[in-house]
Amino acid sequence: MRLAFIGDVVGRSGRAVLLHHLPRLRESLALDFVVLNGENAAGGFGITPKIAQEFHDAGADCITTGNHVWDQKDIIGYMERDQRILRPANFPDGTPGRGATILQSQDGGRQVMIVNLMARLFMDPLDDPFAAIDRILADVAMPRDVDAIVLDFHGEASSEKMAMGHYLDGRATLVVGTHTHVPTADLQILPGGTAYQTDAGMCGDFDSVIGMKKEAAIHRFIRKMPGERLSPAEDAATLCGLIVDTDDRTGLARRVAPLRIGGRLAPAIPDF
Ligand code: FE2
Repeated sequence: MRLAFIGDVVGRSGRAVLLHHLPRLRESLALDFVVLNGENAAGGFGITPKIAQEFHDAGADCITTGNHVWDQKDIIGYMERDQRILRPANFPDGTPGRGATILQSQDGGRQVMIVNLMARLFMDPLDDPFAAIDRILADVAMPRDVDAIVLDFHGEASSEKMAMGHYLDGRATLVVGTHTHVPTADLQILPGGTAYQTDAGMCGDFDSVIGMKKEAAIHRFIRKMPGERLSPAEDAATLCGLIVDTDDRTGLARRVAPLRIGGRLAPAIPDF
């Protein structure tokens, strides 16, 4: 099976590059299943039901989120109804929505578990994500129950994300970080067979500060005063993500490749 993970979609330009390329990438790369992080899609803050539906129509099978999940309030009810969008699994008990789901591939032949967790270093206080993933994987294992397991680990610190990759090595198909919006060059298959990248990067304009207009973002660092509200940079975005080919017998990763299209970053298209 061939999976794609696409990093945090930021604002209008991020949505534009995604909606332009994803339908044809599904074809040209023969993607079986696509996961993307959509928590910055609505003006940089959260995601609306309408945007979520546009992403599904363009070919996203599952949408993950993170710390900005509730910035658009109408996503709360939507998430209760739709299995294809996740909030972090280690949010408090009783939080609406779900942090893990099992979905069928569009051809109906594969079962994919997607888990969304939030890291803790330099983030809000939350339940232990390592204990949370152990609880989730106590009930579901591959290849017994599902054909692949994908974890979006939404966090700031590369150390915590790398530790999670090794913690799950051999138990998941892919552990990928999101939230920092900068694609890291450490995409690899860990010794136990789990594909890993510290951060997938964003779908956004890289002439910016992590997708936001640079002037207002710089102002926040040099003046300890409220300034202009942050808003997404609006020039051409780069689509950032990765693809993983899995071993159908084990669910583990066989091959990985980065994906970067458009905008300012050096392009990367898988040659297989
Ligand atoms: Fe985030």
